[in-house]
Amino acid sequence: MEKARVYWFFGLSGSGKSTLSDAFALRLNDFGQHVFRLDGDELRKGVNKDLGFSQEDRMENVRRAAEMAQLALTQGFTVVASFISPEEIHREKVRSVLGEYVEMIFVDASIDTCRTRDVKGLYQQVEKGNIKEFTGVSAPFEMPNMEELRISTDGTTVEHCVNVLWEKLIVSRK
Ligand SMILES: Nc1ncnc2c1ncn2[C@@H]1O[C@H](COP(=O)(O)OP(=O)(O)OP(=O)(O)O)[C@@H](O)[C@H]1O
Ligand SMILES: [Mg+2]
Repeated sequence: MEKARVYWFFGLSGSGKSTLSDAFALRLNDFGQHVFRLDGDELRKGVNKDLGFSQEDRMENVRRAAEMAQLALTQGFTVVASFISPEEIHREKVRSVLGEYVEMIFVDASIDTCRTRDVKGLYQQVEKGNIKEFTGVSAPFEMPNMEELRISTDGTTVEHCVNVLWEKLIVSRK
């Protein structure tokens, strides 16, 4: 049995965090792991309903998520989390809560790709001036240093990306 871990997917809105997290979580399920999924959108509907998108609130958003991941981890769950986590300080917070148990995965797609996908119509709303402080447009996204695991979703299929992640995170770590 694999050691319980937290897989923390981060990147721009529309980069593919939720899509890859869901697919990766399904595969972990098939592999016999008990998986706990945490997703930014879901948390913002409930637990983190009181938070907005200021620097301070974004930090609190990831801090609470990391603490929830920690709780699930101590109960033997494998956690798959997807949060924009836009700046290095947010990623540092996650690492400081979860330590050696977390794998940070940078889901990389260009802002043009994300804008073209515009899964939730958010980029269009930003364009119309209806959303302030949007990551990658009017709020910062800090590129991670390249020591971290990076998966590019530009011009690749979900299946290919999950295969690559599986190989790097599971197969080669056995
Ligand atoms: N290789 C790929 N990996 C992941 N998603 C891909 C890939 N190729 C195309 N896509 C598409 O890109 C979109 C990614 O949307 P998704 O909701 O997963 O983004 P997100 O990073 O979770 O955004 P948000 O931060 O707004 O929640 C989906 O429509 C997905 O089908
Ligand atoms: Mg998402």
